[in-house]
Amino acid sequence: MNLQLDPASKIENSHIDHFWSDIAEGLKSSPKHLSSKYFYDKTGDHLFQKIMAMPEYYLTKCELDIFKNKTAALADLIIPENEPFDLIELGAGDAMKSTYLLKYLVEKNIDFTYMPIDISGNILSILNEKLKSQLPALEIVSLKGEYFEMLKKAASLSSRRKVILFLGSNIGNMNIEEAEHFCSDLNKHLNSGDIVLTGFDLKKNPHIILNAYNDKAGITAAFNLNLLTRINRELGGDFNLNQFEHYQTYDPVSGACRSYLVSLTDQKVTVKNEIISFVENELIDMEISQKFSDEKIRELGEGSGFNMIGELKDSKKWFVDTAWQVK
Ligand code: AVI
Repeated sequence: MNLQLDPASKIENSHIDHFWSDIAEGLKSSPKHLSSKYFYDKTGDHLFQKIMAMPEYYLTKCELDIFKNKTAALADLIIPENEPFDLIELGAGDAMKSTYLLKYLVEKNIDFTYMPIDISGNILSILNEKLKSQLPALEIVSLKGEYFEMLKKAASLSSRRKVILFLGSNIGNMNIEEAEHFCSDLNKHLNSGDIVLTGFDLKKNPHIILNAYNDKAGITAAFNLNLLTRINRELGGDFNLNQFEHYQTYDPVSGACRSYLVSLTDQKVTVKNEIISFVENELIDMEISQKFSDEKIRELGEGSGFNMIGELKDSKKWFVDTAWQVK
């Protein structure tokens, strides 16, 4: 019997294997943890759209304020002197904020190619369609895959200067050590003179931060619990969602905003024939959303081989887009 799989099922199976090995490792650790990178299935994407529209979730509105109302200053900050370049967006999604910059650059007849990178081919084709109709003159090369693999591909496609966008405080979903590694790796994938613009959520009144992740409507709770539903569906788990509760913390000293799921009882959960035991009040560490001081941002950039070249804050000074240049 020929047991060879077609390429699509091989990719699907390797995705499930990675997912399962990460989940198994996290649920067997003490304390238990799961990775928020798995939040984004179809329901997770939808819940994240709802989070971004919540009144308490200020991050998207603040960064939109920068892109919409300070577009010219932003372009001056990151666009190299009159030379053609590639504008690469890591995790482009629907490019809601960057579209303001793209529109501005197209109107000014600037010579550049937009290269959105995303793991989801579906998201990239929707984005491609949207940009083709809104900005027909824009040159787009979509890159589907992991960030660093796609940066290598972008380098092989053209030797033009690279300007990287890493927006939305996505860097905050790494702990400080992971962020340091990520920035150093990013630096190594670029050339001298390339520029990176990163969106950081700044430390501010702690109530404002906690409220953004502890909304009364329970959307953030549903966003976290949805990962258990995903495990049930994709890995044959039997998590009872009524037996877990979302709990959010913010430590204004370290800037770590963390979400947990709390087991409401002693219970056993089976995932792929593995039995996982929980005691009452045991936690699963789900996500970090790190908040930064100006000083920490500078340390991070300089420590990973960049020169700081400028920054733009929103009108409330709650969020910053920081430009670094590879030395
Ligand atoms: C995607 N990321 C920057 C969001 C954040 O603010 O950490 C994810 C999120 N988690 C809960 N609410 C939003």
